[in-house]
Amino acid sequence: MSTPLELRVLPDSEEMSRVAAAAFVEAAVRAVAERGRFTVAVSGGTTPRETYAMLAVGLRRAVPWHAVHLYYADERCVEPDHPASNHAMVREVLLAHVPILAPQVHRIAGERGPALAAAAYDAELRAAFGEPGAARARTARTFDLALLGVGEDGHTASLFPGSAALDVTDRWAVGVESADPQRPWPRVTLTLPALCAAETVLVLAAGAGKRRVVRGVASDAPDVRTLPAARVRGREHTLWLVDEAAGADVEHAVG
Ligand code: 6PG
Repeated sequence: MSTPLELRVLPDSEEMSRVAAAAFVEAAVRAVAERGRFTVAVSGGTTPRETYAMLAVGLRRAVPWHAVHLYYADERCVEPDHPASNHAMVREVLLAHVPILAPQVHRIAGERGPALAAAAYDAELRAAFGEPGAARARTARTFDLALLGVGEDGHTASLFPGSAALDVTDRWAVGVESADPQRPWPRVTLTLPALCAAETVLVLAAGAGKRRVVRGVASDAPDVRTLPAARVRGREHTLWLVDEAAGADVEHAVG
């Protein structure tokens, strides 16, 4: 049974980023108080950049970085300093500015190619979170927070509509081909079980291009075949933060 989805429409993308950064801080502080560490999966793309910048500067001291373990929702199979690398972006905007220890940054080694990089990442995730699989679907717990974006085609992380990766239940991470003609590299992505075993799922969407997807996700019966992002529900909480352009067709909604 999936948890309800909460959707908040913010006046603009700056406010969306501010609320997202505050949610990151709150989740980190709570997790460290309760369990001594905060595990977070972050995304690439343009939408969360501003949130990372806020965490790196104004909110730098609000996050218990010594106890943060940072993972990636997905990565392109490129060198770690390639402009298309999610790790390169997160390092530049966030990690270079905060006191997080290198062993606590769990990057995906995309440069090894999708099969090897996915196998290595899956093994690392198994060591951290235990084995995935149907038998564990109800009890598995992965990240305290999964911070995601969404594509205009409804993908999230690198789970694209129609992809066989959407049916994988026995791995935390898999290699996939890209369905994005602008960014054609193979990728490695977390699977649906990995994302849905996160305590909180936070999805950001900004701009009119995301309007159709946001409308679809907020509808009573989202078409999960065409909207993989609608299938991602956290164990406790699923929050979509969207700016007014992306949320033009929806009211604040819980469903
Ligand atoms: C990536 C992502 C991907 C992204 C969406 C939205 O690395 O590109 O993890 O899932 O979040 O494609 O991207 P934008 O934020 O650039 O619109």
